[in-house]
Amino acid sequence: MKKIDRKFGKKLEVDAKLDINGHVFTLPVIEGTQGERGLDISKLYAETGYVTIDQGFANTAACYSDISYIDGKKGILNYRGIPIEELAEKHSFVEVAYLLVHGQLPNQKKLKKWSGFLTEHSLLHEDMRHFFDGFPRGAHPMHILSTMINALSTFYPNVDQRSLKADINETSTRLISIVRTLAAFAYKRSVGEPIVYPKHDLSYGANFLHMMFDSPVKPYKIDQDIVDVLNMLLVIHADHEQNCSTTAVRVIGSAQVNLYSTIAAGVNALSGPLHGGANQAVMKMLRKINKDGGNVDKYVAKAKDKNDPFRLMGFGHRVYKTYDPRAKIMKAACHKLLKKLNIKDPLLDTAMKLEEVALNDEYFKARNLFPNVDFYSGIIYRAIGIPENMFTVMFALGRLPGWIAQWREMVETKNTKIARPRQIYTGVPCKRSEGSAE
Ligand code: SDX
Repeated sequence: MKKIDRKFGKKLEVDAKLDINGHVFTLPVIEGTQGERGLDISKLYAETGYVTIDQGFANTAACYSDISYIDGKKGILNYRGIPIEELAEKHSFVEVAYLLVHGQLPNQKKLKKWSGFLTEHSLLHEDMRHFFDGFPRGAHPMHILSTMINALSTFYPNVDQRSLKADINETSTRLISIVRTLAAFAYKRSVGEPIVYPKHDLSYGANFLHMMFDSPVKPYKIDQDIVDVLNMLLVIHADHEQNCSTTAVRVIGSAQVNLYSTIAAGVNALSGPLHGGANQAVMKMLRKINKDGGNVDKYVAKAKDKNDPFRLMGFGHRVYKTYDPRAKIMKAACHKLLKKLNIKDPLLDTAMKLEEVALNDEYFKARNLFPNVDFYSGIIYRAIGIPENMFTVMFALGRLPGWIAQWREMVETKNTKIARPRQIYTGVPCKRSEGSAE
């Protein structure tokens, strides 16, 4: 695989100074394209014997990346320099997937080739279809998805940095396309219906809806408005700098693991309720509030009570300290779709009330807690007819091109090292081993 000598930001003239017991060390200061600044501590341990501690990595940049940019204070998200609002409104998920993996939007010729690959790879290897029969009926689709994606590495063993001869277009479109088929098959398995094969003449989103909802006794009629909303949802979930699941992909991939096993790790990380699993948890929370008489104030109070483990799911974010720009787009789409489908969803009413109370509450304001990407997405998925246990699978479908782009950037960057952080040992004092040096 070709390696790229990437430019790692701009080194500022003035270094930072670190005074440890009167010994002054200099730390280079690196500035990113948008003016973010970081201290380069790559020589800190060698020069000082000290490591830094940053649980949850809230203050640590794990890499240099050209893919997406977030300004948490201003609520900005760009993919390859293009604002998310523009991409969500004007571009298909297939174009945005190409943008993330290749760095620029495709021209018509490249888009045709890329879409052709997606169609060609939409079929699952027939031997894999029988894997579904082994899962228990109630298996969570995220667990099925990560298992099946990992199984792809047994069918395509040579997809890693050392032996990645196949064109990245082939590799990435195979994953982006097959995972859509796997997701629909997992759903059909969970409801005991016959699986529906993809059709060569449907768009990415329309084909997914076709495989999910078509049936021999009740043909599914494609509604372009629903395809457009699904397309927007996939676009706004497509990448998000170094979030938990992308970090998992980079860490696992740094050991030169097969791409499919690496992506399976990303799916597993995303399934957590603090991460991608929050969209399903939001619906559970809204239903619980409704069942409890719609008492929003009671649940806001619970979320503030340190002795109560309850948190407002879909609220708060490690980076956004203002409204998540993706939540804004989704809130508008939510109202538009429910109006078009003439749906009155009591969960949306509760979500709106919850948002209003929380945003005017000192506790939430003081901590800059706003709705995040997961707060409204579930209401839209529900309106489309997607069952709750598939919500996080939808997040994974969207995030897939971002994971692939981040993996590609890492493996193609010269001198990428295996991820191996240090620790501060706080266990029992260690016995000296016989004959060890003093
Ligand atoms: C995603 O990272 C990404 O980019 C992720 C993502 C992506 O696209 O990949 O954006 C997708 O994962 C969105 C987040 C989905 N998760 C949820 O909605 C779960 C609910 N949210 C929280 O658990 C929390 O806000 C996190 C996990 C999202 C962020 O947690 P942090 O940054 O570790 O913040 P924290 O837990 O240290 O909280 C800071 C304070 C604490 O109070 P104090 O101790 O200062 O008094 O804010 C409070 C927290 O108790 N707090 C909340 C809260 N979130 C934070 N209080 C009530 N309800 C909440 N939701």
